[in-house]
Amino acid sequence: MRNILITGGAGFIGSHVVRLFVNKYPNYNIINLDKLTYAGNLANLKDIENKPNYKFIKADICDFDTILKVFKENKIDGVIHLAAESHVDRSIKDPFTFANTNVMGTLSLLQAAKECWQEDFSNKLFYHISTDEVYGALELTNPKGGNEPGGGPFGNEFFTEETKYNPHSPYSAAKASSDHFVRAFHDTYGMPTLVTNCSNNYGPYQFPEKLIPLFVNNIRHKKPLPVYGKGENVRDWLYVEDHARAIDIIFHKGKIGDTYNIGGFNEWKNIDIVKLLIKTTDKLLGRKEGEDDNLITYVTDRKGHDLRYAIDSTKLKRELGWQPSLQFEQGIEKTVQWYLDNQQWMENVTSGDYQKYYDDMYKNR
Ligand code: NAD
Ligand code: DAU
Repeated sequence: MRNILITGGAGFIGSHVVRLFVNKYPNYNIINLDKLTYAGNLANLKDIENKPNYKFIKADICDFDTILKVFKENKIDGVIHLAAESHVDRSIKDPFTFANTNVMGTLSLLQAAKECWQEDFSNKLFYHISTDEVYGALELTNPKGGNEPGGGPFGNEFFTEETKYNPHSPYSAAKASSDHFVRAFHDTYGMPTLVTNCSNNYGPYQFPEKLIPLFVNNIRHKKPLPVYGKGENVRDWLYVEDHARAIDIIFHKGKIGDTYNIGGFNEWKNIDIVKLLIKTTDKLLGRKEGEDDNLITYVTDRKGHDLRYAIDSTKLKRELGWQPSLQFEQGIEKTVQWYLDNQQWMENVTSGDYQKYYDDMYKNR
């Protein structure tokens, strides 16, 4: 029996992690703690919300007293910490919220874990989910693509676990700071911790402010597709269930105090993804090929827009045997189909109706 606190479980990646753990480990108690910000949507977990080993708690990770109470009352012995402000564009407009949630929220969880566990750290684990963006940006040495010897399609450098932190956006600066706090608690107090840094995720239940769900929805409604700059930026994409599977393996088998990079070895230029999204969405909607190409609209670039991210996840493959399971074209088709099939989910999110789900389902329980 374990009592695992998953923070941010009503968000995109968190909901996949909660689902995986609730279904795969009926002997674990899974406590999903989430503030339900604009990014939290309990409808993401409709299929498991009545399982006996699942409990939801609406709370803010920055509220130390409440967090401490949750740790004590639920005898928490493992944490998988995903709660965060996650959208780079929002961090450029409002860095304070990002520093508060991502840094102070993480610190409040660490401090609560320390107070409850410090007598005996055995069989305890604080697992912090972070991002490749903390490493900064890589060069585009091969802008046209095509594999460089020993490298990726757009350059021969990758982020490894040894790459020095060099965050550029307020989002990644806050995530970097939280990573440092987690490692500081390991080094100072001996807390058993793990940190993983993952590349861009895609798949069902992503909030439609992020590139893929936003663009699929816009294509469906024949709305413009705002491509930042020239669309030359490169990201490394991973199907969200592959990330959740990696988290499961690392939570159970990762070396305490260690860091693992998680990535797809799957680099794409934004503009090529946008073209693939148009092609796939049009095909699935029975529209003519090329019918929606004119929706592409180049707009002012994101401030400080990182050029290229590329993760080297060979350590994770070598040490723990994980690798991505889905080809990108397959994963994209599956994802686009999901957004098209779940139009009601999309409409609830874009209209704001999803925020009533908590009141309807939980308030009077
Ligand atoms: P998301 O924005 O979809 O979800 C974040 C969740 O955290 C939401 O449910 C929100 O309500 C909750 N939350 C926010 N502030 C909170 C607070 N103060 N207290 C409690 N809950 C709070 O994010 P996501 O894309 O699922 O990312 C989850 C984690 O994974 C983040 O830590 C992010 O940095 C990291 N990450 C994301 C990606 C990606 O591609 N999306 C890649 C690598 C790492
Ligand atoms: O790399 C991991 C990170 O990936 C996570 O840590 C973040 O939480 C997650 O949001 C994501 O960050 P990005 O900034 O890479 O994701 P986003 O979907 O916002 O943008 C992907 C790329 O597409 C990026 O280069 C910006 C561009 N873009 C995005 C939007 C929303 C556009 O060109 N137009 C858009 O409208």
